[in-house]
Amino acid sequence: MGNRTQPLIAVLGGDGIGPEVTEQAERVLAAVRPDCRYAHCLVGGAAIARDGAPLPSDTVWTCADADAILFGAVGGTEFDGLPLERRPEAALLGLRKSHDLYANVRPARAFPGSEGASSLRPELVRGLDLIVLRELTSGLYYGRRSDTIVDGVRTVSDEMVYREPEVERIVRFGFELARGRRKHLTSVDKVNVLATSRLWREVTERVARDYPDVALEHLLVDNAAMQLVRAPARFDVIVTENTFGDILSDEAAMLTGSIGNLPSASLGARVTGFGRYGMYEPVSGTAPDIAGTGVANPVAAILSAAMLARYSLSDERAARRIEEAVDAAMSAGVRTADMAGESPPVGTAAFGDRILRMLAASQETVPR
Ligand code: IPM
Ligand code: MG
Repeated sequence: MGNRTQPLIAVLGGDGIGPEVTEQAERVLAAVRPDCRYAHCLVGGAAIARDGAPLPSDTVWTCADADAILFGAVGGTEFDGLPLERRPEAALLGLRKSHDLYANVRPARAFPGSEGASSLRPELVRGLDLIVLRELTSGLYYGRRSDTIVDGVRTVSDEMVYREPEVERIVRFGFELARGRRKHLTSVDKVNVLATSRLWREVTERVARDYPDVALEHLLVDNAAMQLVRAPARFDVIVTENTFGDILSDEAAMLTGSIGNLPSASLGARVTGFGRYGMYEPVSGTAPDIAGTGVANPVAAILSAAMLARYSLSDERAARRIEEAVDAAMSAGVRTADMAGESPPVGTAAFGDRILRMLAASQETVPR
């Protein structure tokens, strides 16, 4: 922190395919920003194996000192018996909360020439370019939980809490995002049932007055899920609470052909000497069925590195270079198994190699 001259990136590969895809993201980032330094730390199941806890204190300190976190994935069925606070996922939730990374930006785009990989008809996904903006530090994920016996009956609860300022800041973030894009914001709630949604809608209506140039619509979450598969290209920015955002972003990812394509940035208010502090991770998860086989799709991780460059290094040019290289690889038919269809797939590292070659060919020399 402070007067560092080179950005420090904490790299937390985690479990399953996490380390494999993160390795490719790091190579790509290093190619466009050779000045970055990297500190590798254990997290999730890998950390539990070392010292019984998913988020060890050396990882906590390194992340706090770093300018950004490049995150892989955490989880594994072998931890199913553990209490929630000791599971690998607790590390992720802890990092999000402790750095107040409330704004989770999850962009889904149809890659040129790969509309055919979508589970929807190609004409429905053509032009798809949306962002799911998910509130990330409140709601059901962080409410009180209980598991007791009431009148002889096992009774379990998860509390969903939203405070007005928490709603306001994420909705404002949504309007700002939309303002820089196609100026259309869809706010998703369940106002016909939930008290938190009533607050959400009231606050959204109020904040909207500051953004007369942005068109606002409200959708109930069930309808939003339907519209996403009916006419996904109609969406620009979708802002929603934590759990709805978790669900809708997986749905949005699949529209692009694979969950392995969706990157994310988790941002808060903190700024460093280089940009906004943030955590960057593929939405895909650990994919235990293919972990270690070298076939995982690194696109989400590589695009997460692009988002890191954009937000945490304030380097839009580096971000675009990475995104253009991924587009170019996709257009050239370079695909991992999940996206390949009939054509022969490339492996995780080979995909990374192709991106590096694309970057080298783009003939840019990076200053500094
Ligand atoms: C995600 C993941 C996490 C979440 C899990 C691993 C806790 O599904 O980032 O979408 O639910 O937030
Ligand atoms: Mg999820």
